[in-house]
Amino acid sequence: MRIDIITLFPEIALAPLRESIIMRAQKAGIVEIHAHDLRSWTVDKHRKTDDYLCGGGQGMLLKPEPVFAAVADLRRAETKVILTTPQGLPFKQEDAQRLTSCEHLIFICGHYEGVDHRIVEHLVDEEISIGDYVLTNGALASAVVCDAIIRLLPGALGDDRSPAEESFSDPTLLEPPAYTKPIDFMGLKVPDILLSGNHAAIEKWKQNEALERTRRNRPDLIARSRENQ
Ligand code: ADE
Repeated sequence: MRIDIITLFPEIALAPLRESIIMRAQKAGIVEIHAHDLRSWTVDKHRKTDDYLCGGGQGMLLKPEPVFAAVADLRRAETKVILTTPQGLPFKQEDAQRLTSCEHLIFICGHYEGVDHRIVEHLVDEEISIGDYVLTNGALASAVVCDAIIRLLPGALGDDRSPAEESFSDPTLLEPPAYTKPIDFMGLKVPDILLSGNHAAIEKWKQNEALERTRRNRPDLIARSRENQ
């Protein structure tokens, strides 16, 4: 997979992708990531990338010209263009999974105050939001989406761990609590059941705990699973 990120802040997009599993995936040739400064596609003296809203309104929007020029330069036949924006569709694990089948992704990192809508209408295949909050720009959001996709690419996790067992592989259930050694940490004990060796009982405990955690932290997931039944 190749990923091109078009942003005013290439370092913000790249820094989180330079560590650990995602860096290893790049070194192993599983993914190639390039971040580009949108200003390289400006042609005016001031290298202007944003402007005031037509018809009035607060703030500034990303101008269309440099974004259209950047996408024209980077696009190939198989490219999918993604805009990261708080106005996008909520990004889910199933989207990360779906996007692993793309050979080439271009991320346009939105300005927090928005982009000229002609970009959305004529360039963008998908608008993605990573949550109901507003970041200062879309570069961090693009890094988050890239991370979620890349770790699912075959070979990226580098061992026999499977992403299939974690939270959101079943999108209606969170993972149960988990413990490691020491078994007694300053009087705080690992639940006896996990040390019992009774695998059926352990499995049942995990299921109950997963359900309880989901009820407590994400009741919306349970409601959604009922709606889909
Ligand atoms: N840009 C600013 N906030 C964002 C968000 N929540 N998701 C995606 N892109 C953004």
